[in-house]
Amino acid sequence: MSDLSDVRADAAAGRRAHDRALRVPPATVAVQAPELSIVVPTFNERGNVAELVRRLYRALDGIAWEAVFVDDDSSDATAEAVRELARTDPRVRIVHRLGRRGLSSACVEGVLSTSAPLVAIMDADLQHDESILPDMRSALLCGAFDVAVGSRYAAGGSTGQWDGRRLAFSRFATRLGHLVVPPQLKDPMSGFFMIRREAFMASVRGLSSIGFKILVDLFASSPKPLRFVEIPYEFRDRFSGESKLDALVAWEYLLLLADKLVGRWIPVRFLSFALIGSLGVLVHLAVLASLYGSGTLHFVPAQAAATAVAMVFNFFVNNSLTYRGSRLRGRALLPGLASFVLGCSVGAVANVGVAGYLFEHAQGWIPSALAGVVVGAVWNYAVTSFYTWGRRAR
Ligand code: GDD
Ligand code: MN
Repeated sequence: MSDLSDVRADAAAGRRAHDRALRVPPATVAVQAPELSIVVPTFNERGNVAELVRRLYRALDGIAWEAVFVDDDSSDATAEAVRELARTDPRVRIVHRLGRRGLSSACVEGVLSTSAPLVAIMDADLQHDESILPDMRSALLCGAFDVAVGSRYAAGGSTGQWDGRRLAFSRFATRLGHLVVPPQLKDPMSGFFMIRREAFMASVRGLSSIGFKILVDLFASSPKPLRFVEIPYEFRDRFSGESKLDALVAWEYLLLLADKLVGRWIPVRFLSFALIGSLGVLVHLAVLASLYGSGTLHFVPAQAAATAVAMVFNFFVNNSLTYRGSRLRGRALLPGLASFVLGCSVGAVANVGVAGYLFEHAQGWIPSALAGVVVGAVWNYAVTSFYTWGRRAR
């Protein structure tokens, strides 16, 4: 039997072994509650995180800051690289998300995991100039502003090495953004800004959290106009790794704008689902025309084949566009497709049932058919969003 002093000695020895294993210096590091949290979304940014932290140390000397990386289970083990830093540095933390993707939703979760009164959002790839962070902080501390936006389009800022195509695209996206944010904001597409926690918390429940453009989302969701200042900087080249900006990001941006404009009345995912469903009808007709129209098959087998192709098409396109953030992959695809086909088959029966009922009760064939289509589409959306994609999303 060991007495209390043995237990204490064991605990002290265990503690030393633990510290050695983690390479923590023997003296406890004094930890100050952070005044500024830098939230950094990451997806395959292993080569950037250590350099970013090094630069934050240089830029934020004398400020109590922390860096919170939010990683979506990157295949290059970015999360491990961050943990490696965090083992010896209490300023570094990680939120590691599984089975999900999305820059905006990662930022939201990062901010919610912190308590600092000021929060900055910043990319991991060093394209954002960390040396303006102290100016952003001073602007917020003076009390006149809720948000300080790192701006490429304010006087003195620049898009750096961008080619004409990317520049034209960004300007067009900015113009579209002005549908939902104040036109005085020159760079609403910026992914680099600092915000007061109260301002963020006032908007957080209204955020769409779709895609890349969290600043547009914040401005459009705030219950009262955000007081902002733009601080110019020059957008730099990527330090390491590759950009994740692609055509799907552009699609998600359109979804975000649609959500801000009409989302109060119609769920934007339903709009996306219905649009893809209409494309599915075209695919159906094309397959039917090539099989039946060409005389290869009789009508019924050709119609069955066209239905199957259209369903598979709808499943994969919805999986990539409507549900990108909770996309099914690998082994989850087959059961996902099966539940989608099953759900939509029931939807087809409901469609025909409703249309038939109305038609028999002396409604014209067009209103009867349209009512059937609407009932079928709403059913398909509701059932597949829950059974096919919903479970994994939670
Ligand atoms: N957690 C998480 N999940 N992080 C992500 C995801 C994701 O699905 N997608 C991208 N990121 C991270 C990247 O790892 C990077 O740190 C940051 O978000 C920005 O992604 P980039 O791939 O570097 O985007 P970009 O440089 O092309 O776009 C930047 O410029 C735009 C303005 O032109 C971003 O700052 C955008 O926010 C900005 O609007
Ligand atoms: Mn980038």
